[in-house]
Amino acid sequence: MAEQTQFNLKPEDLPTAWYNIAPDLPVPLLPPIHPGTHQPIGPADLAPLFPEALILQEVSTDRWIDIPGPVLDIYRLWRPTPLFRATRLEQALQTPAHIYFKYEGVSPAGSHKPNTAVAQAFYNKEAGIKRLATETGAGQWGSALAMACQFFGLECLVFMVKASFEQKPYRRIFIETFGAEVRPSPTSTTQAGKKILEAHPDSTGSLGIAISEAVEVAATNEDTNYSLGSVLNHVLTHQSVIGLEAQKQMAMAGEEPDVIIGCVGGGSNYAGLAYPFMADRIAGKTQTRFLATEPTACPTLTKGQFAYDFGDTAGMAPIVAMYTLGHSFVPAPVHAGGLRYHGDAPSLSLLVREGLMEAKAYTQNSIFEAAVQFARAQGIIPAPEPAHAIRGAIDEAVEARESGQEKVILVGLSGHGHFDMQAYDDYLNRRLPEVEFRQEDVDEGLADLPGVPLPG
Ligand SMILES: Cc1ncc(COP(=O)(O)O)c(C=O)c1O
Repeated sequence: MAEQTQFNLKPEDLPTAWYNIAPDLPVPLLPPIHPGTHQPIGPADLAPLFPEALILQEVSTDRWIDIPGPVLDIYRLWRPTPLFRATRLEQALQTPAHIYFKYEGVSPAGSHKPNTAVAQAFYNKEAGIKRLATETGAGQWGSALAMACQFFGLECLVFMVKASFEQKPYRRIFIETFGAEVRPSPTSTTQAGKKILEAHPDSTGSLGIAISEAVEVAATNEDTNYSLGSVLNHVLTHQSVIGLEAQKQMAMAGEEPDVIIGCVGGGSNYAGLAYPFMADRIAGKTQTRFLATEPTACPTLTKGQFAYDFGDTAGMAPIVAMYTLGHSFVPAPVHAGGLRYHGDAPSLSLLVREGLMEAKAYTQNSIFEAAVQFARAQGIIPAPEPAHAIRGAIDEAVEARESGQEKVILVGLSGHGHFDMQAYDDYLNRRLPEVEFRQEDVDEGLADLPGVPLPG
C-alpha cells in the first residue's frame, strides 16, 4: 500500500480552546514597561488600544482559553488545516528523515494570520469599536485583518511597509477588495510618519515604523483600536490552534517529532505550532528540539540582545523584554517582509534564552533555493517567510542522510507564496541581492535601547 501522505482531521476535531503557554514557562514573563513613565504597565494603560477581553488574555495565566462560537464558525471556513508528509521531498533528498509539514496556506488569506485576525475582530466588535488600525509587512497580516473586519462589520486601516507596498501590488488589491484602506508607510498622515520622512525622505519603511503610525491613529481616535498580527501574548495564544491540530495529526501518523522548525518574524506562527509540543518538553515528557529560523538581514534571535526595548520605532508602544536589534534598526528590504521586525515575542525570546529553543539565520538566495526545491517536489510554492523554515528542514534532512539517522522533522508552512512571484522572478533570474549581516547596523540600533534594566 502507498505510504500515507495526508493526515486530515474531522470538523469536530477543531480545537475549542486556545493553549496559553504562560503558566508553563520555566521562568515567568517579565512585565511590560510603560514607554513614558518606565513603570510596569497596568491593564488601564492598554485600554486606548485594545478591548478588555484581549487585555485580559494578554496577562492571563490560564492554560486554556475558550474559543468563542462566532470565531469557531469562521475558523470552520478552512480549519482544521492539513498536515502532509513530504515523501517526494524526502525522496529527492534521499534522506531517511521523515518530513511533515503543517500547511496554513489553505486559509482564505493564504497564511496563518486569520487565526488571530478573526479573534481580534470579534472581541473589538463586541466592545463596540468601529475601526481597527494596523501595520502589515508582506501584506499577509493586512489581508487577514481586512477579511476579518469585513466578516464582523468593522472598518480597517492598514499601514503597509512601503517596500512591500511597491513589491506586492496584488497584496494591496487583495486588502482593498475586503474594503480596507491601505497607506504606504511611512506616510505624512501621522506625526510618527512625518518625523521619519523628514529625517529619511526615501525611507522604504519597516514594521516598527508602520506600527508607530497605526498605534498613533488608534491612540488619538476614540472609535479606533489597534490590532497587532504578532509578538503579543494573546496573538501567540490564538495561533495555538495550529499546534493543537498538529499534535493530533502527528498521533494519526504514529510519530513524534524529533525537531520542530518554523520561521520567526515576531514569533506567532512558530509559537502557534511549537508551544503545545513545548509544554511536553518543559514537563520533561519529550526531548523534542525546537529550531527558530530567521533572515540574516534581520537576525534578532541569532545576533540581537535580550533587553528591554520599545515594540515600535517611534517609542510609543510598550517596552518589552525580548531579543532585539534596537527599535531604530531598519532591515534591508528582503522579500520576506514578514520577518523584518526588530524584536521577537517575549515568551519565545525567553525560551531561546533558557536554551529550550535554538535559532539559525539564512541568506535570501539560500531560502529561495530551498523553496524552489520544495515546490518542485511537493507542488506548493511557499511564501518567502516559511521558506526559511524549509531551508532549516532541508538542512536537517541532509544531516540525517549523512549520519544515517531516522529523524522526524515537523515544519510549519505558514503561507503560500502566490503573491510573491516578483521575489521568485528575482531569484530565478539571479537578481536577488545577497544581504549579509552587518554588525555596524546592529551596534547602531542597540545604542538606542531605552535603558530599562532587566531584573536580577
Ligand atoms: C506567511 C508568513 N509567515 C510568517 C510571518 C512572520 O510572522 P510571525 O513570526 O508572527 O509568524 C509572516 C508575517 O507577515 C507571514 O506572512
